[in-house]
Amino acid sequence: MKVVVTGGAGFIGSHIVDRLIEEGHDVVVVDNLSTGNVGQIRPEGEFYQLDITDAALEEVFAKERPQFVIHHAAQIDVQKSLEDPVLDASVNILGTVNLLNCCVKYEVGKVIYASTAAVYGVPQYLPIDENHPVGPISNYGISKYTPEQYLKVYQEMFGLNYTVLRYANVYGPRQGVKGEGGVICIFANKFLAGQAPFIFGDGSQTRDFVYVGDVVKANLAALEKGDGGVFNIGTGVQVSVNELLEQFKLLLGGSIEPVYEPPRAGDIRDSVFDVSRAAEVLDWQSEWSLEDGLRETVKYYQDGD
Ligand SMILES: NC(=O)c1ccc[n+]([C@@H]2O[C@H](COP(=O)([O-])OP(=O)(O)OC[C@H]3O[C@@H](n4cnc5c(N)ncnc54)[C@H](O)[C@@H]3O)[C@@H](O)[C@H]2O)c1
Repeated sequence: MKVVVTGGAGFIGSHIVDRLIEEGHDVVVVDNLSTGNVGQIRPEGEFYQLDITDAALEEVFAKERPQFVIHHAAQIDVQKSLEDPVLDASVNILGTVNLLNCCVKYEVGKVIYASTAAVYGVPQYLPIDENHPVGPISNYGISKYTPEQYLKVYQEMFGLNYTVLRYANVYGPRQGVKGEGGVICIFANKFLAGQAPFIFGDGSQTRDFVYVGDVVKANLAALEKGDGGVFNIGTGVQVSVNELLEQFKLLLGGSIEPVYEPPRAGDIRDSVFDVSRAAEVLDWQSEWSLEDGLRETVKYYQDGD
């Protein structure tokens, strides 16, 4: 099958591209390289350096005629979304609408959309299931949620099939420091440099950290299942920042102690997903333990790939 992966030069997208190629699919990457790295795309993949907001995107669809689109291109920096809401909305909302128009016109069989826990905002209860009210508290949360609504309407109006995957905090090799799982990348680099990491607050705040290999598997599952559905993709395990730090100490040894800073305004205290719907419908579940995922991640930064 031919699959277009937008954002395929980025952290999560490039891992999906690797796996699709390994499974024998034809892969077409569309990425403007704003945060991605062309070196992360395997040579078997076709690459278009293109912005998803560009009208020329249609030419890619006219030429390639993909059956599936896995959409990961996005402005992912929450801070940037606050500083430049127009840029954030134009990439995440208008870029997605441009992409969906191409999908309708060239009769793409299905779109898989990478959404985020940020759509829920401050949790009203834990664990967060997909029925939890949506209430973004950042421009990024708004701009990532809006495409979910377009997908719903485009399915009703044009019959465009889709699956939405809402990721918890994703981590793993190739991650940059700006993403939602960025704390792991920051800790890894600090530890390897022998420097003390900063922790905002007392470190008891929790997140659901999901390894990128599990996220790849969820995308592969969504190629075949979960039509018209929204799924939380996480581990269902709540890990505090202090526990994360302990894991790093166990892995890397040494006696580095963190520097505790005052909590940041607007930071969510606790977050963890209920992932039972993905287990039931996509037949997917997280398989990577935090220990194994961190080991792979640290290895990547140690090797300096
Ligand atoms: N990393 C996480 O923890 C996390 C959590 C929830 C959701 N997500 C979502 O997953 C997706 C991938 O995130 P990531 O962490 O791999 O980030 P990333 O920055 O590594 O990947 C994004 C890719 O999109 C490309 N891109 C950005 N703007 C573009 C544009 N206008 N046109 C074409 N390409 C463009 C970038 O060059 C990059 O290669 C995003 O949609 C993000 O919102 C990530």
